[in-house]
Amino acid sequence: MKVNGKDFRTVCMENNEVKLINQLLLPHKFEIHTCKNHIETAEAIKKMIVRGAGAIGATAAYGVAQAALESDEDNYKDYIKKSVETLQKTRPTAQNLFTGINYVYNSIKDSDFNEIQKIAVEKANEFADYDAYACKKIGGHGNSLIKDDCKILTHCNAGWLAFVDWGSALSPIFMAHRAGKNIFVFADETRPRNQGSLLTAWELGQEKVPHGIIADNAAGYYLNKGEINMVITGADRIAANGDAANKIGTYEKAVLAKENNIPFYIAAPTTTFDLGTEDGSKIPIEERNPDEVLSISGIRIAPKESSAKNPAFDITPAKYIAGIITEKGIVKADKEEIKRLFEQ
Ligand code: MRU
Repeated sequence: MKVNGKDFRTVCMENNEVKLINQLLLPHKFEIHTCKNHIETAEAIKKMIVRGAGAIGATAAYGVAQAALESDEDNYKDYIKKSVETLQKTRPTAQNLFTGINYVYNSIKDSDFNEIQKIAVEKANEFADYDAYACKKIGGHGNSLIKDDCKILTHCNAGWLAFVDWGSALSPIFMAHRAGKNIFVFADETRPRNQGSLLTAWELGQEKVPHGIIADNAAGYYLNKGEINMVITGADRIAANGDAANKIGTYEKAVLAKENNIPFYIAAPTTTFDLGTEDGSKIPIEERNPDEVLSISGIRIAPKESSAKNPAFDITPAKYIAGIITEKGIVKADKEEIKRLFEQ
């Protein structure tokens, strides 16, 4: 996607270094962050310099490739295995992180030292390229659901910053806009990290998509007034039965959409599905630092003696989801349909 008219990828690897768009500085500053080794790459995921399921998946895949490049003949198996553990521990919820790590690790774990480096880099690039390809396809499928004059609500950021390119939930929106449809996007601000007001709004602005930021609490008001025609969000992990983990606050938007007869869609590539997890109740939910709730931009707003709870994700049960937009087409949030998707 373009930033001030120039093409950028959210994450890539050049000369053994992982290059990331520093998402902590947006929208006020656009800067590329460099990770010289897999430890720095893991840190960038942990500190949310890079964030969003697809983006951290590709970054972690590159992290395993870096570990292969850093290793030497005497210790390469142990070294790479340890790097996998380090990268896996960075964040617990997004399935793409684990898919990306496994994709590279499984391709080298039984190989000889003289071939692992080449294979690891090739596989990491392949994984990142697939992410960009899948999201573009999601855009095409999702665009078919968007009518002219459509008003769409989205939550958090599932645009191209959250993937390698295009994004999941925003990809259909970018495509509809480029196709000349008249659309308007309501972007939830998404407290406490404000991915909606900082990142989604910035991406929509770069593409000149008409949009307005709303406080998270305002979504119900607009859904009830009939001012929103559809909801599209991303997902961080989708269980075998179609229950979906996404940014905290998504569940309540889905319930309110159903209550008001407005379709609620999830957009996610197949790399977000976790068929080994039966339903949403088994998806690990990241609990983040309470300071994110107690403070705004580093300034404490809550009383000194108050504590806070800060779950980063919630689960939307499959029954609230009108469909899941994947790169292979739009499927029902249903165990059998999801199973068939992986048999294609
Ligand atoms: O905590 P984050 O910013 O890494 O959260 C991930 C997300 O951006 C959202 O949950 C998103 O809607 C799905 S991932 C594209």
